[in-house]
Amino acid sequence: MKKILITGGVGFIGVNLALDLLKDKENFVVIYDNLSRNGVEKNLKYLLTLKLKNFEFIKGDIRDYKKLKEIVNGYDEIYHLAAQVAVTKSVESPIEDFEINATGTLYLLETIRKNCPSAILIFSSTNKVYGELSHLKLKEDKKRYYLVDRKNGIDENENLNFHSPYGCSKGTADQYIRDYYRIYGLKTVVFRQSCIYGPFQYGNEDQGWVAHFVIKSILNEKINIYGNGKQVRDILFISDLINAYKLAIKNIEKCKGEIFNIGGGNKNTFSLLELIEFLEKKLDKKIEYEFFDPRPGDQKVFISNNRKFERLTGWKIKIGKEEGIEKLIKWVKKNIIR
Ligand SMILES: NC(=O)c1ccc[n+]([C@@H]2O[C@H](COP(=O)([O-])OP(=O)(O)OC[C@H]3O[C@@H](n4cnc5c(N)ncnc54)[C@H](O)[C@@H]3O)[C@@H](O)[C@H]2O)c1
Repeated sequence: MKKILITGGVGFIGVNLALDLLKDKENFVVIYDNLSRNGVEKNLKYLLTLKLKNFEFIKGDIRDYKKLKEIVNGYDEIYHLAAQVAVTKSVESPIEDFEINATGTLYLLETIRKNCPSAILIFSSTNKVYGELSHLKLKEDKKRYYLVDRKNGIDENENLNFHSPYGCSKGTADQYIRDYYRIYGLKTVVFRQSCIYGPFQYGNEDQGWVAHFVIKSILNEKINIYGNGKQVRDILFISDLINAYKLAIKNIEKCKGEIFNIGGGNKNTFSLLELIEFLEKKLDKKIEYEFFDPRPGDQKVFISNNRKFERLTGWKIKIGKEEGIEKLIKWVKKNIIR
């Protein structure tokens, strides 16, 4: 039996990953999460109602080094997803943000190094490590910005330029994770993720914008737009991210010690205004929104160049943006009632 640990595993990405891994009865999945994210207790409740014999939940904090030393033992695969995930909150509480994202990651790395050094470690980093990217040439029309210099999107050779405490703390973790491969030989893989979206995502104004826009639209609530709404993001449906994680594990000899940008790429982008327009058509209603000042470190465009990972593993996106949003709409209609 394969023993798998998911930190932050009742969050959006974690619960989807757990449900996928739990389909294989040869996997024993342990989730470690402090339940601090609003809404995630519903994800845990859902997992527990399945009454699976190959699942265990441990309530705990990634900052609790003593507890980590007790529980991180004998794992074959570890997915480190636990994090303070919002740029806005990191600006309000930078020390707490650093302790969770940077120090917590270092604690986990140390326990893996000491207790189960042969485990594969997958880490969910972020494209925010590239900062605002304000040096990039952009074009602009009524609804969106366009990249001029990086026609295939942003690849892993882009300079690191941590911006916002969240960018700094996740960037620190990202570099430590890679360095534990170089210095200690741990089998680590870093994914610098664009916006991921899908079911079980309790998106809010601070994080998870696609789900947030869908939820607000369905509930007929006004959306606040920070900046002019022309910001462009590439969006990746959750099942395609999970496939990427699994392919990295399958191809670990090629992937260990590597860093990959991963996102929806050129074909799966929306500006904020475009997503609203798309939702208005899909839901057949007018969506209300209001503009506010831009937020610190907000990239005008981020589009991931996925070629390095595609080349190494043969990964391909299966769910395009329209299909993905339709799946998310269905889930929200069924599950979000205020
Ligand atoms: N969703 C995205 O678009 C996206 C994009 C880039 C990177 N990421 C990264 O992916 C990971 C998962 O993101 P998500 O979207 O599932 O977020 P999420 O907020 O839904 O999940 C994070 C989980 O971590 C838990 N957690 C928070 N602080 C903790 C702590 N101190 N100890 C233990 N558990 C703690 C929360 O309770 C939550 O269940 C995060 O590391 C995030 O930075 C996500």
